[in-house]
Amino acid sequence: MKLKVGFLQFKPEFGKIKENTDFIVSELKKHKFDIAVLPELCSTGYLFENTKQANELAEDENGYFVKSLLSLAREKNCLIAGGFCEKGKDKPFNSQVLVSEKGIVSIYRKAHLFYKEKEIFERGDTPFNAVDTGKGYKVGLMICFDWIFPEAMRSLALDGAKVILHSANLVLPYCQRAMFARSLENRVFIITANRFGKEKNKKGEEIEFTGKSQIISPNGEVVLTVGRETTGLFSVEIDLKETDKNLNPLNNLFSDRRTDLYKI
Ligand code: ACM
Repeated sequence: MKLKVGFLQFKPEFGKIKENTDFIVSELKKHKFDIAVLPELCSTGYLFENTKQANELAEDENGYFVKSLLSLAREKNCLIAGGFCEKGKDKPFNSQVLVSEKGIVSIYRKAHLFYKEKEIFERGDTPFNAVDTGKGYKVGLMICFDWIFPEAMRSLALDGAKVILHSANLVLPYCQRAMFARSLENRVFIITANRFGKEKNKKGEEIEFTGKSQIISPNGEVVLTVGRETTGLFSVEIDLKETDKNLNPLNNLFSDRRTDLYKI
């Protein structure tokens, strides 16, 4: 099965949910695709001062961001995955929603919180299960720092995910290079949608994001990438046949695993 898949790279404006969402919708409307991936926390921005501020900006499934993605997916008959600050009980979740023309397909809540995210957000409680898109294939959902824990993508791949939808606000310089190994060891496509730009808050904290969103094939090849400060939706055609786990007639990436010898 062939699919047109892409990522949207941009610089969200902190706290401006309506403006960020309207920009996302207007960009996506210009293009044709089967799957589009948006960055982490793309409706709110990233650098919350505290939980109170994050709670004030948090939305649920009926919020402006998810509602806008749902109506866009209906109009375009496609899948869209993107990160948002999701209302929780005491603290919000750093979440990623996947929508299709039929409605919300899944919501994933970030399991591995990075640095001071631990002070702001509740730790995610959704397992790394592959998500059935209803279109004849499964995808995996992941947010940013989840990449550094190989178990996350392995779980998704073992569960049948062929394409990993990775919404990111990357700050460390390693992920774009490391995804070469993640794709190869799991034979999956990986779409990393990253943001760029700097954010500064009233506490004097400052952070810079690394852009360079990319799509990697199951052979570890970068099939699409953009510059550090490029804005827009970029897409490429992929063939899910490439996710076959047979390396040759005698080696299968999954059935050859020696789970009797591993520590996990
Ligand atoms: C990150 O997980 N946003 C670095």
